Amino acid sequence: MKKFLALLLALVMVFALAACGEAETEETTPAGEETTPAGEGTEELGYIGISMPTQSLERWNRDGSYLDQQFQAAGYKTMLTFANNETDQQVNDIQNMIADGVDLLVISAIDGMALNTVMDEAGTAGIPVIAYDRLINNDNVNYYVSFDNYSVGQLQGEFLVEALDLENAEGPFNIEFTAGDPADNNAPFFFNGAMDVLKPYLESGKLVCVSEQTDFDVVATDAWDTDTALARAQNILASYYADGTQLDAWLCSNDSTALGVTQAIQSDYAGDNTVWITGQDGDEANLKNIVDGMQSMTVYKAVANEAVATLDIAKAILAGDPVDQALIDNAGWDFEANLDTETYTTSDSGHAATSVLLVPTTVTTENFEEVLVAPGYYEVGEDGYLHATQN
Ligand code: GAL
Repeated sequence: MKKFLALLLALVMVFALAACGEAETEETTPAGEETTPAGEGTEELGYIGISMPTQSLERWNRDGSYLDQQFQAAGYKTMLTFANNETDQQVNDIQNMIADGVDLLVISAIDGMALNTVMDEAGTAGIPVIAYDRLINNDNVNYYVSFDNYSVGQLQGEFLVEALDLENAEGPFNIEFTAGDPADNNAPFFFNGAMDVLKPYLESGKLVCVSEQTDFDVVATDAWDTDTALARAQNILASYYADGTQLDAWLCSNDSTALGVTQAIQSDYAGDNTVWITGQDGDEANLKNIVDGMQSMTVYKAVANEAVATLDIAKAILAGDPVDQALIDNAGWDFEANLDTETYTTSDSGHAATSVLLVPTTVTTENFEEVLVAPGYYEVGEDGYLHATQN
């Protein structure tokens, strides 16, 4: 079965690559292929600028290539850039896209607040923007495609409630927190989703944060950086747990921060009990840690589906069709998504981006075959660990 799926995936990729090739040569070879209707070259279908934040975190490589492939296979011309986690670079990338005449921008912001000027420029040029995964705080941004960020945090919180059996066990259990980048609009959503689940147990005393560091601003991690998360975790372990105090759980908002925390626990925590550690993204290093019992879960977001949703929404925008519930109902997606027109406000004026939010999934050793391997996102390598089938 696994071999069959791998073969099927290989075939799909070959066809996708062939389709990309067609799209790229379309300007010189107008063809009557289905993806590029006769008489319409890529220029007529549209030119899409795709600006991703960085290649240093695994998931964005996948997002970039899925988006690029999806749009090209559908007959669009694309420009794909990664901004090395540098805001100035991202502004520059987007300005180049605008100057190059893109018809639509798909942007995952490094800093949701720092793209104001360039979003105004896009607005003036009449270029629609889809904020991809991370919201951009500018009223020219009318569309947002992401996973339900609050529910990512809820899944992490609920996982810990079950793992520690907080409803029944006596406790108390000791927990620490590590959140994401304060410049990333998603980070507080993840943290609040988890905190809202865990707060009653902190209030009742069944959960105790020994360091007392429970505010987002204090537990946030600039740029979602692994080494920053590692250093803070080492500090906490040295200050509060070196005397043999037991640590039971560490809520981490994503995998890059979980990686740092896990390293710190391996090297700087003397206790021998299980420390339950959460994550998000299904990065390979973290899935390895999950298989090895060093991380407990990750919240998986099928970014291939996020790219499919983005393509269909872009098509609707360029065709002048509404992005609404009917689009979701009629899209024929084999994944769940919900329309939200209220939550993601782009400024204090109350303007909200029309948001299409996909549904994330908890992954543990119990279900990774079913959630990751069977659909073809990952395969189990000869080393016994999970490897993404596309990067
Ligand atoms: C978030 C994203 C997460 C994670 C994190 C670090 O915005 O939603 O999936 O990747 O950034 O890159």
